[in-house]
Amino acid sequence: MFKYHCLNPIAKVGLDGFTEEYVKTEDIGEADGILVRSASMHDMDLPDNLLAVARAGAGVNNIPLDKCASKGIVVFNTPGANANGVKEIVIAAMLLASRDIVGGINWVEANKDNPNIAKDAEKVKKNFAGTEVQDKKLGIIGLGAIGVKVANVAKHMGMEVYGYDPYVSVDAAWNLSRDVKHVINVDEIYENCDVITIHVPLLDSTREMINEAAIAKMKEGVILLNFARDLLVDEEAVLAGIEQGKVRKYVTDFPNLTTAGKPGCIVIPHLGASTEESEDNCAVMAVKELKNFLENGNINNS
Ligand code: MLT
Repeated sequence: MFKYHCLNPIAKVGLDGFTEEYVKTEDIGEADGILVRSASMHDMDLPDNLLAVARAGAGVNNIPLDKCASKGIVVFNTPGANANGVKEIVIAAMLLASRDIVGGINWVEANKDNPNIAKDAEKVKKNFAGTEVQDKKLGIIGLGAIGVKVANVAKHMGMEVYGYDPYVSVDAAWNLSRDVKHVINVDEIYENCDVITIHVPLLDSTREMINEAAIAKMKEGVILLNFARDLLVDEEAVLAGIEQGKVRKYVTDFPNLTTAGKPGCIVIPHLGASTEESEDNCAVMAVKELKNFLENGNINNS
């Protein structure tokens, strides 16, 4: 009989034989398998008999991969399981950045006791005017499950979509999404696109790939969206870009003291995959992976 432990709540999991048990990292005990969402496992002592870790999500940067590899612990993730949730928030973020919806809502909050709110709204609305995304160019860095879904929606919104992914061939990109102009040099995205969204894993090769040099190549007034990982972006360089007027808005799903509350930044508390559907999909896929491995020795997504 295997023991599975869940390190932080990841929604309801209802597969036969799996007992939901949320524990603190220091109380993980002698688990054979660990199910984790985004809690960091870097500082924890891994149980001696641990055989597998299943991450309910795509990114595995919260898991000590080297330590797991040296102990022969198999690590699974759930690619694509939350792609729809992330796609929808990316589209919402693009619209939030193009239209000053946040500024408008803040104005209403500040005027909630103003008896002339309706009349004053007509006077101030010019301050919150935005732009439309139709006929603008969207650059997608990373044509995985999320990038392709974003491309398809953006195309239906009348955008011209550029995609860059060094691991996807031109033919594969064409099959993945016929809506993408697949470029082989990321500079083509920097130089042409009005909105740029990044959907790549955090690796040594991708760390701070959006940096001062990249921003220097971008169009004036570019909108940057980051729903992948904070360290993909040199956020000090983005703030400098906002200050210079080069970057119009930076929307990030990864709050920190560099960007929170800063002009030009819209900061969201890591909500990309926080939908009922995405959480369930990830949880179920992760549990299936874990059970399939622990009980039958099968490995799918590792
Ligand atoms: C992911 O990597 O898929 C997300 O970070 C999932 C999450 O919000 O846990």
